[in-house]
Amino acid sequence: MALKITVIGTGYLGATHAAAMAELGFEVLALDVVPEKIEKLERGEAPMYEPGLDELLRKHVAGFEDSSGRLRFTQDWAELGAFGDVHFVCVNTPQRHGEYASDMSYVDSAFASLAPHLHGPALVVGKSTVPVGTADRLAAYLAAHAPAGEDAELAWNPEFLREGFAVKDTLHPDRIVVGVRSERAEKLLREVYATPIAEGSPFVITDFPTAELVKTSANSFLATKISFINAMAEVCEAAGGDVAKLAEAIGYDDRIGKKFLRAGIGFGGGCLPKDIRAFMARAGELGADQALTFLREIDSINMRQRGQMVELARQALGGGPFLGKRVGVLGATFKPDSDDVRDSPALNVAGQIHLQGGQVTVYDPKGMDNARRVFPTLGYADSALDAVRGADIVLHLTEWREFRELDEEALGEVAAARVILDGRNALDPERWRKAGWTYRAMGRPKA
Ligand code: UDX
Repeated sequence: MALKITVIGTGYLGATHAAAMAELGFEVLALDVVPEKIEKLERGEAPMYEPGLDELLRKHVAGFEDSSGRLRFTQDWAELGAFGDVHFVCVNTPQRHGEYASDMSYVDSAFASLAPHLHGPALVVGKSTVPVGTADRLAAYLAAHAPAGEDAELAWNPEFLREGFAVKDTLHPDRIVVGVRSERAEKLLREVYATPIAEGSPFVITDFPTAELVKTSANSFLATKISFINAMAEVCEAAGGDVAKLAEAIGYDDRIGKKFLRAGIGFGGGCLPKDIRAFMARAGELGADQALTFLREIDSINMRQRGQMVELARQALGGGPFLGKRVGVLGATFKPDSDDVRDSPALNVAGQIHLQGGQVTVYDPKGMDNARRVFPTLGYADSALDAVRGADIVLHLTEWREFRELDEEALGEVAAARVILDGRNALDPERWRKAGWTYRAMGRPKA
């Protein structure tokens, strides 16, 4: 008989995972404690902008014409416990307020709510990003609190999906990593990830701590690449070099690789910054002081980039205060193809200039609602052209395709001055300079 799957938490991770499991042919029941999220999902709408996810949901959510009907939602833990053979825990672990450590309250409360309803054999699979040691603790919790006792087993299966590519990354992962303690758990997870999802994807079986650490170290490595190239940008800036050429040249070495070497205002979002800080906090607790020092440097280079961008803007405007200066900002989300503004470097730079008296007007293709909610006092415009109208300087802070395709001549006609700072090293300097713009980017030659 086919396995039945449940998914707990329907954010980026959970909503995508639930839809992907239905796509693979499983009956799926997903739960969220926020009723509005469930209502939205039942209408076939993802809780966030994610390319392809609405379509996948409508293909499977029960109630749509021609849908497979394999994906349903509930708020009832007893129904969830009785339904599933395999329960995926996909709740988030945000940064704890005012601290570097992860807030584990959603994970803990998911386990507390689920455990009493596990009356028969079941596999609970943690997918959330957690501090190493969590799985050991939760396995003991399940054994003590599930009526099924040891038959309610735990596995750890970190998720590596990127926003903007969530559907693709879930259906065609680079690798599947599972931390297990028994053959039964391994067998069940192999069954869940049977083709097509695992076709060609390496399946790495390991223990709990390694599985937890694979996720945090992968994110830390990506963060390291970005902070490394941003450190090189600082040197290029001082020495008159070109960091974009440097990144291209070192990237041809396939031990280094081309990806994640774009210098600029650095990394943001709901994952990399908080994961590396939580990793720092955990490394400190474990007495791994050198790891802690190393990670602290990565984080501090990253945060410095935002301030550098503000300084670059100040200098380009003559070096004085921002008061009375009009600043057009292109981009608010932490990266393109997402509406996510969590810990967004773009919004942070815009906000710093605004708080220093600049008259900032922001435009973003998908992030306007979220940006307005997070930073209501900034100015907002409905198009790139309107954001730039009358601006003394233009800041390109999120590398949307729409911005690469802008007509620099038309923009120049509405701007008060043709000065653009490219915080993402993503525009073509030649094109902008040809149209009479002063183009500047971090770590690139001034002309
Ligand atoms: C990241 C990881 O990539 C993913 O594997 C993990 O599961 C979750 O965290 P995501 O948060 O979606 O995914 O963003 P990602 O595409 O990794 O970009 C992170 C940030 O780094 C963005 O702000 C991006 O603009 C920035 N970045 C990326 C750079 O500044 N330079 C680069 O070269 C690449």
